[in-house]
Amino acid sequence: MKLMVVGGGGREHAIIRKLRENSAVAEIYALPGNGGIARDARCVPIAADDIAGIAAFAVENGIDYCVVAPDDPLVLGAVDCLESKGIPCFGPNKDAAIIEGSKVFSKNLMKKYGIPTAAYEVFDDAGEALTYLKDAPMPAVIKADGLALGKGVIIAQDLAEAEDAVKTIMQDRKFGKSGERIVIEEYLTGPEVSVLSFTDGKTIIPMISSMDHKRAGDGDTGLNTGGMGTVAPNPYYTKEIAAECMETIFLPTIRAMNAEGRTFKGCLYFGLMLTENGPKVIEYNCRFGDPETQVVLPLLESDLLSIMMACTEGTLEKCDVRFSDKYAACVIMASEGYPAKYEKGYEITVPQQLWDNVFSAGTALKDGKLVTNGGRVLGVCAVSDTLSEALKDAYEKVSAISFQNAYYRHDIGRKALQAEGK
Ligand code: AMP
Ligand code: GLY
Repeated sequence: MKLMVVGGGGREHAIIRKLRENSAVAEIYALPGNGGIARDARCVPIAADDIAGIAAFAVENGIDYCVVAPDDPLVLGAVDCLESKGIPCFGPNKDAAIIEGSKVFSKNLMKKYGIPTAAYEVFDDAGEALTYLKDAPMPAVIKADGLALGKGVIIAQDLAEAEDAVKTIMQDRKFGKSGERIVIEEYLTGPEVSVLSFTDGKTIIPMISSMDHKRAGDGDTGLNTGGMGTVAPNPYYTKEIAAECMETIFLPTIRAMNAEGRTFKGCLYFGLMLTENGPKVIEYNCRFGDPETQVVLPLLESDLLSIMMACTEGTLEKCDVRFSDKYAACVIMASEGYPAKYEKGYEITVPQQLWDNVFSAGTALKDGKLVTNGGRVLGVCAVSDTLSEALKDAYEKVSAISFQNAYYRHDIGRKALQAEGK
């Protein structure tokens, strides 16, 4: 089979590695892929959001199956376009991808179907939002409606910060059209859990849980990033909580999307907060998480391609989806300055024997050499019988890899280890 994976980050590298385990796979094309992905797939310089270019490439090259991984092409309708040309895909169509594409949609969906989430108000007028804030409880959470590269959420500690956030999003239009509407929501507290799931719109099978580390600095300080490291499973996510989430969140969400005529097929990502009043949805994503995928897929024992195709075909109920009982850790090596300003173009040295543990994100090939080409550069991963061993192993591998201006957090998994000890 000839496969195509749309996207070019560490998540896509992890998906490609796993897909390659199926012996029926003859070739994988990555659009656009990246310098390190080129070790495992044929990279084609077509941007992930160039829907027409992607579809034309798929048709010309006789692609049998396509995985659309990032949010942008999904929200833009890449799956609809590919399927209209007869190419089966893993991923939701445009109508279903709105669950991530619009926070107003997802909040209204949860309210309508009684799915637990933070209380909220929607505003399309900055003046009204500012008036509302005067009596609103603080901290308050202010979210741009549309996609904003994971940066459209501002947690305002007091009224001045909240007013500033409204101005930045709605008046200065920091996130462009994504800021035409905003959601102002109640501030929740509790441990956060990421649960990715496979679904064909009828059956939903959660993958192993994970914990992201979103802030740039040690001790959860600094700016919010796309994610600086992950561990799986998440020790806060007990069997009892998992059962509760299935009943109160996962199944109700699938049913709600069906009732709205927006059947979701693909990977549905639940960003959860375990509050004193039970698990609540912080956000939905219409795709695999990055870097959650880099710890979840290495623990998947079943064949990824078969599961994905079962999601497309509506036969997930019959599918074998098994995870190992081991632990995985991933430490992101980033460019110093990420997520704000950083330099690119530095040569990366990865010892040959470590490549199996490395997922390549912001990298490029220049004159045959691998160089840095983004904020998050590499995800260095390890799997072991215990979480502490997986973390130790991942950090040992990090110290054997080098590039100028490399930056990483030193405390990935620390909270998880403490939670395990309780
Ligand atoms: P999101 O992009 O929606 O995942 O939000 C980014 C981060 O902001 C989340 O991972 C949470 O840490 C935080 N966050 C979002 N919504 C809330 C909320 N209602 N209460 C507390 N923290 C939140
Ligand atoms: N790591 C968070 C996300 O993929 O949205």
